[in-house]
Amino acid sequence: MKRVLLAIAGLMMSGAALASSEALPYSYQADTSNPASLQRGARNFMAYCSGCHSMKYLRYNRIGNDLGIPEDLLKSSLMFTSSKLGDTVNSAMPAEPSKAWFGQTPPDLTLETRARGADWVYSYLRTFYIDTTRPLGVNNIVLPGASMPHVLWELQGWQVKEEAHGDAAAHGGEGEHHGAPLKLIQAGTLSPDEYEKFVGDIVNFMSYAAEPGKSLRMGIGPKAIMYLLLLLVLCYFLKKEFWRDVH
Ligand code: HEC
Repeated sequence: MKRVLLAIAGLMMSGAALASSEALPYSYQADTSNPASLQRGARNFMAYCSGCHSMKYLRYNRIGNDLGIPEDLLKSSLMFTSSKLGDTVNSAMPAEPSKAWFGQTPPDLTLETRARGADWVYSYLRTFYIDTTRPLGVNNIVLPGASMPHVLWELQGWQVKEEAHGDAAAHGGEGEHHGAPLKLIQAGTLSPDEYEKFVGDIVNFMSYAAEPGKSLRMGIGPKAIMYLLLLLVLCYFLKKEFWRDVH
């Protein structure tokens, strides 16, 4: 019994070690249980991202069902790139020319938060900065040399990179999040707080898209484990009962 417990503890610890991210400027715990945030995130994803990025494993009617968005609203405010409810989220961008325009075809983003992690995507969307040496005049802290324009500049405004100070690097060891070395030099239409929330909503929606069944599974998981533990106890006593007469 002790050995089983030790094995379980070991598994849990290795999981935690894997989950702890490397030094990204920001950490973010996605919340897929807040329908209002997911709805805002979906709307903003469609408005600001689906022009270039698809979510080819996600259908509009699934979004509607899961997020509680009625069909007419779905059609009028989310479905910019197709008209059928059963369609998956396409991008408006033809793949080949976009490669010529940006140097990269904008990748499908259905599984992005699973591939890169929510922290990464959140940090990515917050750390575009002016870099005149780049073709589009912008660069990114977590994806250096990124070929995506800073599509949210009107909301966030423009940031520049600050020179690293000697002691800034001395603070915080590996795995800590100490913000990006960026300074806002031109305000956007959103305040920094509002922009953080805006990005948070998009990352929440993207996390939902990567695992649409997650909240359901989270509900079933603990019950299944309780059931198995109960079964284990019963089996133990049953075994004792069986062997009592043998000894
Ligand atoms: C004008 C086209 C365009 C728009 C609009 C756009 N992107 Fe991108 N995006 C790109 C391109 C091109 C890349 C590839 C960058 C590279 O690899 O250098 C990219 C890359 C990304 C990546 C990194 C993928 C990876 O793992 O390397 C993420 C995440 C992303 N975009 C999210 C978004 C989100 C969220 C939005 C909406 C707020 C958005 N993008 C809007 C063109 C766009």
